[in-house]
Amino acid sequence: MTDQKSSNVVWQHGRVERATRQQIFNQQGATLWFTGLSGAGKSTLAFYLEHLLVEQGFKAYVLDGDNIRHGLNSNLGFSPQDREENIRRVGEVSKLFADAGMIVLSSFISPYRKDRALVRTLHQEAGLPFLEIFIDTPLTVCESRDPKQLYAKARRGEIKDFTGISSPYEIPEAPEIQIRHGATLQQHAAQVLDYLRAHQIVKR
Ligand code: ADX
Repeated sequence: MTDQKSSNVVWQHGRVERATRQQIFNQQGATLWFTGLSGAGKSTLAFYLEHLLVEQGFKAYVLDGDNIRHGLNSNLGFSPQDREENIRRVGEVSKLFADAGMIVLSSFISPYRKDRALVRTLHQEAGLPFLEIFIDTPLTVCESRDPKQLYAKARRGEIKDFTGISSPYEIPEAPEIQIRHGATLQQHAAQVLDYLRAHQIVKR
């Protein structure tokens, strides 16, 4: 956690209990954290699940790395320090959404273990479910897809600090869910939905 610079601030408590939100929304607020290389399929799966959940009447919302970097985090680049701050901020935002009772699908490369661990701790301290979902697609596959032509640019040296090429990706050691390359999008979504039902994050 970064140092708090503001002093003389006092936590203000609301009147709505978490249990009340859970009962009314028929779900538990939770963060589903999708991590993996660029082009691994994180956002595709997150947006697909968001659609499925909302269609079934649940409250779900995707926070996507590329999108968040257009707004909230538009002042951050891809140095280790900037990525750390990116993940810290979206970790805090995810926690707030989960506390509000939403199912948040956060899709970020989040290459550093310690940054992901910080987000996990934030949720644990707040008593909110946090699921690390590792989109385990090999670099060769991501690079052959190259939907945004970024790997090609990185190989030509036109993008520096590119994850998997000139910047590290630290593989999750104990993710709640591992999504292996090879199955269909529907099968991957079913794997996540089964987990949500088994852990009573969604009822029904
Ligand atoms: S993270 O590492 O800080 O978690 P984030 O998920 O927000 O990254 O953003 C990754 C997206 O930014 C990629 O999907 C890709 O489209 C784009 N991008 C641009 N430059 C880089 C880079 N140097 N490394 C990785 N992704 C990059």
